[in-house]
Amino acid sequence: MADAGRDCELIDLVETDPHTLPDRIDVALLGLHGLGGEDGKIQGLLETVGIPYTGSGVLASAVGMHKPTFKRLATSEGLDTPRWLVLNPALSPAAMALAVHLTLGWPVFFKPSSGGGSLDAAVVHSQVKMIELLQAAREHPYEQYMVEEYVTGRPCTVGLLEIDGKLTTLPVLDVQTHGEFYDYTAKHDPAQRTEHCPSILPEDITRRLRQDALRAHRMIGAHGLSRVDFMVTSSGRTAMLESNTLPGLSQRGNLAAMAAAAGIAYPDLIQHVLAMAFTKPWYVP
Ligand SMILES: Nc1ncnc2c1ncn2[C@@H]1O[C@H](COP(=O)(O)OP(=O)(O)O)[C@@H](O)[C@H]1O
Ligand SMILES: [Mg+2]
Repeated sequence: MADAGRDCELIDLVETDPHTLPDRIDVALLGLHGLGGEDGKIQGLLETVGIPYTGSGVLASAVGMHKPTFKRLATSEGLDTPRWLVLNPALSPAAMALAVHLTLGWPVFFKPSSGGGSLDAAVVHSQVKMIELLQAAREHPYEQYMVEEYVTGRPCTVGLLEIDGKLTTLPVLDVQTHGEFYDYTAKHDPAQRTEHCPSILPEDITRRLRQDALRAHRMIGAHGLSRVDFMVTSSGRTAMLESNTLPGLSQRGNLAAMAAAAGIAYPDLIQHVLAMAFTKPWYVP
């Protein structure tokens, strides 16, 4: 921000009385992740105190955060998303694992319904392991978990960015991970993954990924930027996993890499992100 010639201040919301914000800032550039930051709560607070902010509004943020709701919408849109089951804590781990066995079979992919960064995610190969995970999940009663059909393939992601008022898709980024999946450590250690941006996948696949990412962004009513994650199989299936309404904005992050592949330098990316705070429509629930 400072590089872009703006007067900026880093604000830690944990230590800040939100009612003092309107006196301190003209626009909030959100660099937040996960629950509380990406799920509509901060967005609602900023709407309430009347501060323009970057990215999506309350509803799209909440829908993007909750994977089962996002997937239900994607299915009704005719988008391909892996089959899934939300785990019901009212059932015993043995009964739930049996339900997974009967509906999805093994392996399945286990993850929090409102998680991120691949935290708490795992590939589950058997009913026994599923029971163990479900028992461990009972230690986190406020967390909801889900399982998905395991899709063997390559993780891919598509960034969307509003440029001069027009939403555009950025070049696809694909990842080859050295571990079982694109886990937390691979996301943070470049030595454990190989990335291509633009993607080395065939053009008909990357075109479909970009089209589907755009449909998902519009489907949830996202605003200004987002990043849609997929698994792409060797037979050309493009299975949509989720939409991230506040993708990481760091200079070394995915969105910056995708913007660079589109010829957009980092300070310009930040300028586009700032501009979108002023093109957001009035909030409609
Ligand atoms: N259904 C699945 N099949 C295979 N791998 C998956 C599946 N879902 C997630 N993954 C793996 O986990 C990573 C993170 O999953 P994602 O749904 O994007 O959640 P997060 O919010 O943690 O990023 C993906 O990039 C992929 O490597
Ligand atoms: Mg993801």
